Amino acid sequence: MAKILCVIGTRPEAIKMAPVILALKKEAWADVRVLATAQHRHMLDQVNEFFGIDPDIDLNIMRPNQALTALTARLLLELDDVLQVEKPDAVLVQGDTTTVMTMALACFYHRIPIGHVEAGLRTWDMQNPFPEEANRVITGKLAHWHFAPTEGSRQNLLREEVPDTEIIVTGNTVIDALLVTAARDLELPIPLDPSRRLILVTSHRRENFGEPFRNICRALRTLAENNPTVQFLYPVHPNPNVKDVAHEFLAGLPNFTLCEPLDYAPFIAVMKRAYLILTDSGGVQEEAPALGKPVLVLRDETERPEAVKQGVVKLVGPNYDRIIQETQRLLDDELAYREMACGISPYGDGHAAERIVKILREHFT
Ligand code: UD1
Ligand code: UDP
Repeated sequence: MAKILCVIGTRPEAIKMAPVILALKKEAWADVRVLATAQHRHMLDQVNEFFGIDPDIDLNIMRPNQALTALTARLLLELDDVLQVEKPDAVLVQGDTTTVMTMALACFYHRIPIGHVEAGLRTWDMQNPFPEEANRVITGKLAHWHFAPTEGSRQNLLREEVPDTEIIVTGNTVIDALLVTAARDLELPIPLDPSRRLILVTSHRRENFGEPFRNICRALRTLAENNPTVQFLYPVHPNPNVKDVAHEFLAGLPNFTLCEPLDYAPFIAVMKRAYLILTDSGGVQEEAPALGKPVLVLRDETERPEAVKQGVVKLVGPNYDRIIQETQRLLDDELAYREMACGISPYGDGHAAERIVKILREHFT
């Protein structure tokens, strides 16, 4: 049997790796081991519980308000220990977090082949998103299998001279997870007035910390005050750089609910119920178009240009005036709204995990 170590650190990694782990566990040739670095604690546990994934190894690495250098240093040492004991035949990582980049480096030192799920996303700007663009580039240099979600991400890898034979376009596993979950009978986590429109908000990017995030919050406050019949729901990321500012600017507005991060299924239920989504999340930019929900992205750049090109996602940056102008347009102009709410899925068809497993099966059997 081939020992495959699947690594998860944060909420989105757990969501997007779950379909791969569950598909691999059905393979007779694969001895699947799940390693949680727990770069996130509660948000990782929320997802694992939903998908029924019980990590074999848990490094419990998260510290409050962790700094990137300290997180990286601790992860590298702990991951090195894991690899010495586990000696996997291959390691799978997903996305662009510090967990991914450090695992890719540790595997390189141990000469263990790495499979990168969601490979090839690029903005070509090292500062945006920070530090994720660097994490992807480093992981892309070290990976053996590049599971690219789209043809565009394949082209990005070719531009970096990754051999064509190492790139497999699979679709994004986020859509595998979404389709299975959205088909369930989902319950809303909080009571919402069905007669009032809902704007869903999420935000957590490090490059927005400080004044850009304050601008986002100021714009949200103005929008809520100017549109008292619209409901706003913002599950706040627990990073203190986000949480403290969000509460400072937005607590106490009658039509604005701030809540803890939602479990995955209730979050999908809220997305389905939303009229419009304002976010800087990568995963939400992929999920919302598949649910037919317009997205305004609270960033200046995106590594997910496909939905922008198709006109269902628009970049507004952390820019007070643009956030207000574009949101108000979608609230007031029904035609503009309908053009963005058409329901497309440029990021996958729900079978990405099968394609990833097929490549590994062919290699190991
Ligand atoms: C991380 C990733 C980012 C990803 C995001 C998904 C890096 C550098 N960043 O950002 O790419 O988009 O996750 O959400 O890898 N915290 C908790 N409980 C939790 C999770 C986080 O309290 O369950 C708080 C802690 O104070 C922690 C802080 O959030 O120190 C930051 O966590 P960290 O993983 O370093 O960064 P994120 O901003 O979450
Ligand atoms: N999500 C969730 N609960 C929430 C907010 C988001 O389960 O309260 C899910 C969402 O459906 C998506 C993922 O978390 O699949 C996105 O994670 P996040 O925005 O933290 O990270 P990113 O995708 O930006 O790396």
